[in-house]
Amino acid sequence: MTSDALKAAAAAEAIALVESGMKLGLGTGSTAKHFVDLLGARVKDGLDVVCVATSRRTETQAKGLGIRVVTLDEEPYLDLTVDGADEIDGELRLIKGGGGALLREKIVAAASERMVVIADTSKRVKTLGKFPLPVEIVTFGLVSTISMIEALAAEAGCKGPVLIRKQDDGSPFVTDNGNRIVDCSFDEIDDPEELADALSLVPGVVEHGLFLGYCDLAFLAGPDGVERLESEIDL
Ligand code: A5P
Repeated sequence: MTSDALKAAAAAEAIALVESGMKLGLGTGSTAKHFVDLLGARVKDGLDVVCVATSRRTETQAKGLGIRVVTLDEEPYLDLTVDGADEIDGELRLIKGGGGALLREKIVAAASERMVVIADTSKRVKTLGKFPLPVEIVTFGLVSTISMIEALAAEAGCKGPVLIRKQDDGSPFVTDNGNRIVDCSFDEIDDPEELADALSLVPGVVEHGLFLGYCDLAFLAGPDGVERLESEIDL
């Protein structure tokens, strides 16, 4: 099975949770794209849902499939958000933001009754941090923000290069919100909560890609089937 087929298998599990009348948050990335495709097919068959997208990319895809997309201001409380992840640990803690949409993803997840993560099993890790942690920062005072991130992360036990994300042509990556992303190669984040608290202290940080206490169910697809990971805590 290809990695893409695994992503589609995880998305198919999540689509089974969707019922007519629901308000949905639509994630961003190659796995969430499968979910949106499947949702589009169900909408064509008469499913009645209203959706909020976590990125312009997803909004364009969803609208193209005939899915009703509104703003979060129009529908501030959502039933379910389905999104991908860059890493997920045994406590359903996540690293997100590989696609640069972490801020809207977190806002939408926070506005949702439930967040379901879909991924292939390669995203499952023992310790978060191999995937460089994306952090969205404002452009003003970028250099000083980066050095503050480095200093406070070090106090939280995390060291490693903090690099401004670039596009293929070398220009800086700009988020849907007009901000920048830095990718923090910390390798191992032993205490994600402590690091999250530290990053939140930096004034130039808009949001970080640690999603702690957001995900309450994950479908992880591997060659032997789809594993279901559920939070033991009522989030
Ligand atoms: C987007 O900003 C990210 O948070 C994605 O959800 C994450 O990068 C997973 O993407 P893939 O499904 O493409 O691996």
